[in-house]
Amino acid sequence: MAELNKFSKTLTQEVTNPAAQAMLYGIGLTEADLEKPQIGIASTGYEGNPCNMHLNGLSVYVKQGVTANNMVGLIFNTIGVSDGMTNGNDGMRYSLPSRDIIADSIETVVSAQWYDGVIAVVGCDKNMPGAVMAMARLDRPAIMVYGGTIRSGHYKGQKLDIVSAFEALGKKFANNISDEDFKGVIQNSIPGQGACGGMYTANTMAASIEAMGMSLPFSSSYPATHEGKQEECKKIGVAMKKLLELNITPKEIITTKSLENALTVVMALGGSTNAALHYLAIARSAGLSLTLDDIQAISDRTPFIADLKPSGKYYMEDILAIGGVPAITKYLYSKGLIHGECITVTGKTVAENLAEAPDLDFETQKMVFPLEKAIKSSGHIQIMYGNLCPTGAVAKITGKEGMTFDGEAKVCEHESEIITMLSKGEIKAGHVVVIRNAGPKGGPGMSEMLKPTSAVMGAGLGDKIALITDGRFSGGTHGFVVGHITPEAFDGGPIALVKDGDRITIDANTRQLTLHISDEEMAARAAQWVQPAPLFTKGMLGRYIRTVKSASEGCVTDEA
Ligand code: FES
Repeated sequence: MAELNKFSKTLTQEVTNPAAQAMLYGIGLTEADLEKPQIGIASTGYEGNPCNMHLNGLSVYVKQGVTANNMVGLIFNTIGVSDGMTNGNDGMRYSLPSRDIIADSIETVVSAQWYDGVIAVVGCDKNMPGAVMAMARLDRPAIMVYGGTIRSGHYKGQKLDIVSAFEALGKKFANNISDEDFKGVIQNSIPGQGACGGMYTANTMAASIEAMGMSLPFSSSYPATHEGKQEECKKIGVAMKKLLELNITPKEIITTKSLENALTVVMALGGSTNAALHYLAIARSAGLSLTLDDIQAISDRTPFIADLKPSGKYYMEDILAIGGVPAITKYLYSKGLIHGECITVTGKTVAENLAEAPDLDFETQKMVFPLEKAIKSSGHIQIMYGNLCPTGAVAKITGKEGMTFDGEAKVCEHESEIITMLSKGEIKAGHVVVIRNAGPKGGPGMSEMLKPTSAVMGAGLGDKIALITDGRFSGGTHGFVVGHITPEAFDGGPIALVKDGDRITIDANTRQLTLHISDEEMAARAAQWVQPAPLFTKGMLGRYIRTVKSASEGCVTDEA
């Protein structure tokens, strides 16, 4: 058995630092408490958005579970940024950087305070990868608790979520919605606490991190308001005690095989393209090599089988009724698509956990299809190359949009321009809208394009245009879209050289993104190109521009 409080003992029993003991007495610990392992409980709770508003409350339940198992739980907070609230405005620049700030801050507190283990209570897109990146860096026993998905909203008999609000804007541009109904949708889309309700980024990361083994079974399936969520928090103490006793650390759980499990679940569920970015980063934090081509290989062998939003019908809240993510993962395991031998935070293997999971019933539920009736025989996330993205790009191709798109470029230097163009009717069927200067350095912060893509959908152009960008897409995005284009425009990538009227072909069969100009013309345009001045030179975003790696490298900020 491992020494249970090897880190906190270093802090409290070294004669060199009596102040540490004094301070721990000062916060109310007893002499007996100083013998116990100390567990940092990191909450990204804050009052300002539904995904995070309840996390401080859940952290208290986690602390109760930790205390009940003879450990000391110490809650601390880190930051969060709501993607739903920042989409479409300059606040979005802070969204992706917030992931790395969360990772840095959890690493900092847990290392500085000598906690023996860490439990992160997280609930929005960037919180989860940020927390898991920190866990991998720290490599001390760790568990992630997901805050849970939101329940759906309702208006005039229709189920609603965050994307309904954005799409209502597009309908407004197209005069397809009355003022009363527009207001009705906005006021009823978000009924309370929980993360955005489709298979968007938060639910994608929660489901896949669970499949990777870093959260308890069903963590991603209990909605925020479900009683099972509180129960999970209280049970965490038992699991953490076991991890400490067995000395199971994140680098034993996060392996090449468990990353494959996570990405397999992303593909099967039709999850967010952001998962590509985040798993590249999580792998790097764990010292593992994962590339865009590895992600493509997983996509090639994994059928897309779930009829979930954004491209499908059902919400994350519906999944619990069919057996939750464990039932889906169990089915994938039965088909040889999941590695069963990977160890998880339960102290058991994936296969052992799944043995306790319910079976999917294909007779009664129509949310997840058998492999033979897959929506698409391979994954929807496709890695693109070509003369527009020589070092890679990430496309979301569900097959519903078709497999190729050939059209005329319509260039937006900033995402806000597309909204103006749409309102003036300048975006037309057959356009490939190019939104550039949205990359990690150029944006900066690699903004999500949910507002543009939702507005396009709302305007009825979703299946008539394509959209490519060096920015990202929200998990809520659907349509013919290619993002994460590298090199980004700020670095002089070919996307910086596109002109209105150029012909662009997106071919998902060959995974080629082609700008139809000659090599000579490309070279001539490149010779004319002048790098723009960075939008920020100081503050967090100034530092981010100087340190961030490309999207093909996960946009990590802690590497030389
Ligand atoms: Fe938090 Fe959507 S804004 S999950």
